[in-house]
Amino acid sequence: MNESQPPPKNIVLIGFMGSGKSTVGRELHQRLGYPLVDMDQVIEQRAGKSITAIFADVGEDGFRDLETHLLEELNDAAAPRRIISTGGGVIGREVNRAILRHLGYVVWLHAPTAVILDRTAKNRERPLLHTEDPASKIEALMSQRKPLYAETAHLKIDIAELDSDEIATGILESARYFFAGHL
Ligand code: S3P
Repeated sequence: MNESQPPPKNIVLIGFMGSGKSTVGRELHQRLGYPLVDMDQVIEQRAGKSITAIFADVGEDGFRDLETHLLEELNDAAAPRRIISTGGGVIGREVNRAILRHLGYVVWLHAPTAVILDRTAKNRERPLLHTEDPASKIEALMSQRKPLYAETAHLKIDIAELDSDEIATGILESARYFFAGHL
């Protein structure tokens, strides 16, 4: 990270699988017109295969390396402002957490485990939940990750009672205050 340049001013969405990062990312992209970087999608496009296939071929560690490389690439003060939506496990590595905070305003979309279970049950594209007991896996990962999301985020939003339109409005208003203090 080059400390002599002003920091980038991206809006970065973090949070557990199924918390709505991609949907809210698209909403912010539409409203602000900033380019959208959906990290999972970029990783899939570059690899030419799905996240599930990447996990099968190079394991979770291999996937985490791709995530870290992409974050390093995004950490470019000369790049235009962007909306960056991340994968749920991106906060696992300390180096990633440092880059995420440097990238801009970090918003944690948080939902209770019951909501996550319901939302993730509809889609099989999440290799970490390909287990006999996804509810226990979600509980375990959530308790490991909660402190890491909290440590990384500038703002936490409890999304259970909100739609993506309301969430985006909250993020935009608070981002204005945040960036006004970081000129
Ligand atoms: C993961 C979340 C996924 C994807 C991968 C691993 C995780 O992204 O990066 O399956 O470790 O929580 P979403 O949060 O978009 O589902």
